[in-house]
Amino acid sequence: MNWKQLLLNLRLIKLRRFFGSLFYPMQRDLLERPFLSSNQVFAEIGDIFKAEPIARGAKFYFEKVELEIYFLAADLVRVNWQPGVPPIPYAMAGKDWPEVAVEFQEMGDRWLISTKVLQVIINHNGGLTFQNHLGQIIRQELPPQLKTAGWLHQAKLLPEEHIYGLGERAAPLNLRTPQDGKPSTTSYLMWNYDAGGRYGPGTDPLYLCIPLYMGLHESGSYLIFYENSYKATFSFNGYAAADFEGGALRYYLSVGSPAQLLDRYTQLTGRPAMPPRWVLGYHQSRWGYETEPAIREVTQGFKTHNLPLSAIHLDIDCQEEFRAFTIDPDRFPKLTEFNEELVDTGVHLIAIVNPGVKADRKSELFEEGRSQEVFCKTINDQLIIAPVWPGLCAFPDFTNPKARHWWSRQYEYLLDLGFTGFWHDMNEPGIFVLWGDPSLPQHSTLHFLEGRGGNHLEAHNVYGLLQAEAAYEALKEYKPELRPFIVSRAGWAGLQRYAWTWTGDIETSWSGLRITITTVLHMGLSGIPYSGADIGGFKGNPSAELYLRWFQMSCFLPFFRTHSANNVKPRTPWAFGEPILSIVREFLWLRYRLLPYLYTLTWETNQTGHPLVRPLFWADSKNPQLWAVEDAFFLGDALLIAPIVEEGATSRSIILPQGHWYHFWDDAPFPGGNQIDIAAPQEQIPVFVKAGSVLPIEENQQLILHIYPPVTGVGGGRVYSDAGDGYGAWRLDEFYLQRHEQNLEITWQQQGNYPFPYKNVKLHVHGLEVQTAWIDTQEVHYQNNCLEVEQFQQIILSYSQR
Ligand code: NOJ
Repeated sequence: MNWKQLLLNLRLIKLRRFFGSLFYPMQRDLLERPFLSSNQVFAEIGDIFKAEPIARGAKFYFEKVELEIYFLAADLVRVNWQPGVPPIPYAMAGKDWPEVAVEFQEMGDRWLISTKVLQVIINHNGGLTFQNHLGQIIRQELPPQLKTAGWLHQAKLLPEEHIYGLGERAAPLNLRTPQDGKPSTTSYLMWNYDAGGRYGPGTDPLYLCIPLYMGLHESGSYLIFYENSYKATFSFNGYAAADFEGGALRYYLSVGSPAQLLDRYTQLTGRPAMPPRWVLGYHQSRWGYETEPAIREVTQGFKTHNLPLSAIHLDIDCQEEFRAFTIDPDRFPKLTEFNEELVDTGVHLIAIVNPGVKADRKSELFEEGRSQEVFCKTINDQLIIAPVWPGLCAFPDFTNPKARHWWSRQYEYLLDLGFTGFWHDMNEPGIFVLWGDPSLPQHSTLHFLEGRGGNHLEAHNVYGLLQAEAAYEALKEYKPELRPFIVSRAGWAGLQRYAWTWTGDIETSWSGLRITITTVLHMGLSGIPYSGADIGGFKGNPSAELYLRWFQMSCFLPFFRTHSANNVKPRTPWAFGEPILSIVREFLWLRYRLLPYLYTLTWETNQTGHPLVRPLFWADSKNPQLWAVEDAFFLGDALLIAPIVEEGATSRSIILPQGHWYHFWDDAPFPGGNQIDIAAPQEQIPVFVKAGSVLPIEENQQLILHIYPPVTGVGGGRVYSDAGDGYGAWRLDEFYLQRHEQNLEITWQQQGNYPFPYKNVKLHVHGLEVQTAWIDTQEVHYQNNCLEVEQFQQIILSYSQR
C-alpha cells in the first residue's frame, strides 16, 4: 500500500467513524424510546409479620418483601432482600465457608441475630443496625424502599465517618468530600464509562465501577459490597444511599480493621491472581509503535541508555485496520522470530484486544461469531452494530458461556505469535457516539446471562470482567506452564482474580498526577491491588518536570507503565535529555532492585487480598488525622511514599503515622505522629522506611537485607521466591528482628522447597553503629555496617547508637 492510498484509507475510516457515531446514537435512542418513562414508584416494605431462625441466620417476612440474614463467617453477613432478579454470582469466588455459631433472639418488636463479633438488630419496620462485639453501632440502615425496578437503600452516616472505595474514582480519598464547586452531596454512578478525552479530577463515572465501600468512624470500620451489577447511583451526605435500577437487594457486610475487611472481601470475591514476576518491571507503551523497526528503535534506546525494560505494549496500530486478533503482516512480517528475540532480552510484547468485532461479511471472525450466535442482539432480534476503531462492530455477549469459550479460542493465534500478555481496551464496552451514553443500548440490548436472560442495564458492568475471565481461561489452557497477564480497562467486583488495570486516559496535568494516588487507593480498597496510570498522562505533552515527578511516583505503584496518545511527542526517558534521563535511570534501577520486596507483596496480596498500595490510615485507622491523607501512600508495610505533586515544589510536608521512620535516602530518623517538612530535590521524592522493617533488595544476584531496627521490641520482613512464573515450588524466607538493650538479634526461618535463588546475603544495618557481629555463635567480620553471609539461623549485632 503506498502513502497516498494509506492517507485516503485513513480519511475514509475517519469519515465512516464520524457517520457511525452519528447514526448509531439515533438508532440507540429509537430503540430505547419505549423504555424512557422513568416514573419510579417507591413502595414501603411494611412491617414484619413472621420471623424464623435458619441455619447461620434467620428469615423475616414483611408485608411486601422478604429478608434473609445469613452469616458466612462470624464477621461477615449476607443480607438478602427480595423480590428482584437474583444476581448471577459473577463476582463470587465460590468458597465453602466453615461452620459459624449464630444466635437468634426475639426482643419484643426487634430481633437480634449475632455471632461473637457481629450483631445484627432487625427492627419491625425493616431498619437494620449492625453492632460490634462491644455493642457499639457500626452502621445503621433505614428500611429499604422497593422501587418499580430495583431498590433504594440508605444508611445513616456519622458526622466523622469517611467513605472509600467504589472502584475507580477520580475523587477525593474521602468520597464524602465535595469536589471543588460541586454541591455538598457527593454522588457517584455505577456504570463503567469511557470518559474519552475528558478525564481529570471529578470525572465520574470512569471505566471500572464496583458497588463496594468502606466506612471508617470512631467506633470502627466496615465494608459493604452490593452484589448487584445493575446501573446504580451512590450518594453520600448525612446518609449513604445506594439506588439500583434493577435486581434484588443483596449485600455483604463485614466489620474489622481495613486489613481484615480486604481479607474477607477477597475471600468472597477471590484473591488477586499471582502475576509473573517480570510484570513488576517497567512497561513502555505508546499509541503509535506501528512497526517492528519502530519497536526495535525503542528497545535499542533502552539498551543504549542502560535502562531496564520488561514489556512493550502494542496498541491498535499493530492490527489490520484495527481489527481484534489481527496483526498487520506488512508492518510485523516476522513477529514470532521478533518476539523470541525480544523475550531473550527480557522484553515481553503485550497485544491490545478490543471486544468489538468488525461487522464485515469478509471477516472470518465475524462470520463465525454470527453463525454461532455469540453476539449481542436487540429486542428485535437484530445484531447490535455500533462504531468503534475498526468501524461498525458486533459485540460478543460475554454473559453467554458459549461466547466466552469462542472468544477464548481466539487468543491462541496471538499466543502462537509469541505475545505474553493482553491489554483489554474499550471493554466497558466503549462505543463512538456524538451524544449520549457511549455504550450499548441499556434496555434494548438483550444478554444471555447464563441462560436466564436480561438486559444491558444488568450486564454492562460485568462485561469487562467476563471478557477478562475468558482471556484468563484461554491463557491457562494454552500456556498452562505460565501465569496469565491481562490488563483490563473495565471490570467489576472479582476482576482481581484475572487482571490488572490502569487508570485510562487521565489528563496530562499536575492534578492528573495528584488524582492518580487516590484513584489507585480507591481501587486497592475495592479489592483491585494492581493498577497504575499512564506516566505523564495520556493526551498531551508533560513538561520534563511533570514527567519526572510522575515517573518517580509510578516507580512505587504496582503497574509501572508509560503510555500516551498517538499525537503527542515521544515519551521515552531519553526524550527529555539530561538530567531527567539520569534521574529516571536511577529510579528504574531502584524498581528492579526492589523486586524481592514487590514480589513478596504480590504473594501477600494473593494470600490476603491486601493491596500493595495502601492509604496511611491502614497503619493506624484509629487516628483521624490520617483518614483523608491523599497525597501519600504505603507500599506494603515498610515503605511510605510521599510523591511530589505540585509544580516547582522541592519540599513538602507529610504526617508520619505513629512509630518511627527512617528517611530512605539518608537514614535520618523521624518520630511518627508528627507533621514534618521534608526536602525533595529533583533527584528524589520523599520515601520513608518504617523502623522495625527488613527491606529486601537484590543486586547482582545478591539478596541485600536492609535492616531498619525497631526502636524497641520486635520487627521483621520476608522474602517470597519461586521460579517467577508457573505453579512450581516456592519458598518463604522470614527474618525477625529483636532489639535488646545492647544488641540486635536477627533470626532467619525458612519454608518451602524452592532453592534459595541468591548467591548469598548481605545485611546492611541502618540507624545503628555495629560494634561486633556474631553468626550462630561465631564472631564475624563486618564493614561499613554491612556483613556478607551464606545461610544463618541467628545473628547477634552489638551496637552503639548513631
Ligand atoms: C483508549 C485507551 O484508553 C488508550 O490507552 C489507547 O491508547 C487508545 N484507546 C487507542 O487504542
